[in-house]
Amino acid sequence: MSNIARHIAIIMDGNGRWATERGLRRVKGHERGAEVVRTLTTYASNHPEIEVLTLYAFSTENWKRPKMEVDFLMRLLNNYLKNETETYIRNEVRFETIGDIGRFSSALRNEIARLKERTRHFGKLTQVLALNYGSQDEIARAAKELCQKGEEITTDSLGNRIESSRFGNVDLLIRTGGEQRLSNFLLWQSAYAELFFTPTLWPDFTPDELDTIIEDFKNRQRRFGGI
Ligand code: FPP
Repeated sequence: MSNIARHIAIIMDGNGRWATERGLRRVKGHERGAEVVRTLTTYASNHPEIEVLTLYAFSTENWKRPKMEVDFLMRLLNNYLKNETETYIRNEVRFETIGDIGRFSSALRNEIARLKERTRHFGKLTQVLALNYGSQDEIARAAKELCQKGEEITTDSLGNRIESSRFGNVDLLIRTGGEQRLSNFLLWQSAYAELFFTPTLWPDFTPDELDTIIEDFKNRQRRFGGI
């Protein structure tokens, strides 16, 4: 039996380089990247296997970028959630987030809450945006909560406490942009994920390339520690 790509997680890297290569400002790469998010999400919502698509949109480390770029990313996200509401509804995509959005503006937090509420009944696909997300921090928080409650720390109890665990383990983790690292993304849930690194910059990533990766994934031997 071949593997099922139920949960796909993507580290969307390479927006800045895509723009710089074209003599454009980095933010233009993010703008194009947002269009790819829309295309890929629509594609995934019509795919027979994919149930969850988790996208790394803003890491806890991204605050270190110049203020102008951070502000642009916040505005882009806000506009995206507002303007693409119809796309979520048309494709029956439930919108969710992981990460600590407490540091975002109240306007953006409201927009996030509005879209979650508006799409919570949909079940064709769940799109999870990782926003101000860091995996180590999330694991440490879960461990702290268990300790405070005096509960035993086991793989199950800790795994279940981790906020992003509610979307299940990752089957296929893809990173665009050529780097080969996980950058603190879904470390717990990717324990047995198949990893794919592509040199394609995120703004150039297409549903066709995703399809090729899924085909490759289907032929990989997943043993989950067995033989
Ligand atoms: C990495 O590229 C990308 C990000 C830090 C942000 C990801 C954001 C988007 C894809 C667009 C907005 C998303 C939504 C959902 C509206 P980079 O800037 O690190 O690229 P580089 O490595 O070439 O510099």
